[in-house]
Amino acid sequence: MRKLLSFIVLLLALSIFAEIKIGVLLPLTGGISAFGDWTKKGIELAHKQKGTALGEKITLVYADTRSEKTEAANAMARLIDKEKVVAVIGEIASSNSMAAAEIAEARKVPQVAVTSTNPLVTQGKKFVSRVCFIDPLQGTALAEFAAKNLKAKKVTIFVDIEQDYSVGLTNYFTERFEKKYKGQVLKVQYKSGDQEFSAQISQAIAFGSDVIMMTGYYNEIALIAQQARSMGYKGYFIAGDGADAPELVKIGGKAVEGLYFTTHYVPEAATTKLAKDFVEAFKKQYGTMPAMNAALGYDAYMLIVDAIERAKSKDPVKINTAIRSTKGFQGVSGTITIDENGNAIKDVIIVKVQNGQFKYETRIEPKDLQ
Ligand code: PHE
Repeated sequence: MRKLLSFIVLLLALSIFAEIKIGVLLPLTGGISAFGDWTKKGIELAHKQKGTALGEKITLVYADTRSEKTEAANAMARLIDKEKVVAVIGEIASSNSMAAAEIAEARKVPQVAVTSTNPLVTQGKKFVSRVCFIDPLQGTALAEFAAKNLKAKKVTIFVDIEQDYSVGLTNYFTERFEKKYKGQVLKVQYKSGDQEFSAQISQAIAFGSDVIMMTGYYNEIALIAQQARSMGYKGYFIAGDGADAPELVKIGGKAVEGLYFTTHYVPEAATTKLAKDFVEAFKKQYGTMPAMNAALGYDAYMLIVDAIERAKSKDPVKINTAIRSTKGFQGVSGTITIDENGNAIKDVIIVKVQNGQFKYETRIEPKDLQ
C-alpha cells in the first residue's frame, strides 16, 4: 500500500513536471516591437485555447530579439541550449529570422517563422519553415497591382538597405514592373531608424513618380508618407506587408490614408467559422480587432502543436518532419500547406487604408502570378 501510494505520488509529480516547451522568438522591444506585441497576443490566445499536447502541458518560453539580428541569434541559442525548447516560433523580420535560422539549423530544432517573407529564410534549410508566402510572390503582386490598377508608369522605391526583406521585395517588384510593363523605377535608400527623408523625397518628385513604394517597416513608412505629403507629393503610396501594423496609422495619421499594401490577413476577409471564431475570441480577450501578426502568430502556434501530435513525440527532429509534411492545415489566416522548401503557399491580400482602418481591396492567387 505504501509502495503504491508513493508510486502514485511519483506519477503525479511527473505529470506536473512533464511539459513541452515551445520557444517564442520575437521583437518585444526595439524598432518593430509593435509587430512582436501583436504576434505575442495571437500566440497567447492560441495557447489559452490549446495548452496541451500528447497529454502534457505546453509552456511558452519568450525571448526578446530587441529587433536586431545579433540578438536574434543569441536568443535562439538560449532557447535551445538553456531552455531545451522542442520548437521555436519566430521571428517576424526576415533578417532576424535568418540570423536565428543558422542556429536552429545547426542544432536540428524546428523554427517556424511567422511573417518573414524573404526566400533566403528557408532556402537550403531543413529545419526552418514559415506560415506565410514569400517575396517573389508579394513583389509580383505589387507590380501587377501598380501597373494594372493604378496605371503606374514611374515608381520610386524607398529601400531600407538594412533589411533583407526590403532589398528583396524591391528587386522582385522591379523585375516584373520593368520587364512585363516596361515601367520605370528609381530606387532611393535609407536605413531602419532614419527619421528624415526630404532628400530622397525631392528625388522622387523630380523623377515625376506616379507611385511611391515603400518596402520597409511601418515606422519609416509612416514618416516617409507624412514628409512626402508635406513636400507636395500628390501621387499614390504602396507598400508590402511591412506596413501592416495598426501603429502605421497611429504614427502616419492622415498621410497614410489611401495607401495600398499587400498582406497575409485582414479580419474583414475572414470567411470560415474558424476564422470568425478567432476574431470574436480575440476581441473578447483584448478588446480590439486582431492585427495581421496576431493571426499568423496564432496559426504558427497551432501548426506546431498539430505537428507535435502527429509526430506523437517530443523529439525536435520528428516534430520537424511533421511540420514539413503539413498539408491542408486549417489556419485562421487560410489553409496552410508547407512546400518542399518549408514555405506556405497562400494568397496575397491587398488592403487600403481608409478612415484609419485597413479595408480589404482584393486577393491575388499564386496561380494568377505566373
Ligand atoms: N515580411 C517582413 C519581413 O520578412 C516582416 C513583416 C512583419 C511584415 C510583420 C509585416 C508584418 O521582414
